[in-house]
Amino acid sequence: MPRMSATRLLVTAAIAFSIAACSGEGGGEAAPAAKEAPPVLKERHDNFEAIGDAFKAVRGELEKDTPDFALIATKASDINARAQKIEGHFPTGTSVDDGYDTEALATIWQKPEEFKAANQKLVDESAKLVSLAGGTDKAAVGAQAMAMGGACKGCHDQFRLDDKK
Ligand code: HEC
Repeated sequence: MPRMSATRLLVTAAIAFSIAACSGEGGGEAAPAAKEAPPVLKERHDNFEAIGDAFKAVRGELEKDTPDFALIATKASDINARAQKIEGHFPTGTSVDDGYDTEALATIWQKPEEFKAANQKLVDESAKLVSLAGGTDKAAVGAQAMAMGGACKGCHDQFRLDDKK
């Protein structure tokens, strides 16, 4: 897999770029259209990787007899914040069909409402997890972590290329 070891600097630059892009500065000079991947692809990859790591940390806590609920809340809150960035990471023309090294299926742009709903589900389920992790009911937190996992799977099943089948 040509997954270059991520240089933090590039990530930071990409994020700074997207913040600048969001805060007004219109301009059509963003994408230099060659098949070189636009920075947003790396940004969305890194965002999903971080979501994956955070979810792993949540599951790790839940395997313990006495989970650190504050840590679960922090991780769930990170997932919630990152979930709200997902939509902005999918500009048109960045699916696997466009020739990029990505698992983003063209379905994302063919069914934008469904994609949006799948994204919103993660926002909602992670918010519920944050709130439940404010208590110490392991069963309830565990059930909600499962529900959140269902939101991951729901979107992946429909919109992410599965190269493991
Ligand atoms: C709204 C849709 C959606 C939701 C919700 C979602 N994902 Fe994904 N995920 C994707 C897509 C699309 C990709 C492929 C991105 C790419 O390759 O550009 C992906 C890729 C990933 C990757 C691989 C990183 C990469 O870019 O190669 C991981 C890890 C991941 N997701 C974890 C999760 C976890 C964990 C959750 C739930 C907590 C989750 N995702 C929720 C759509 C979603």
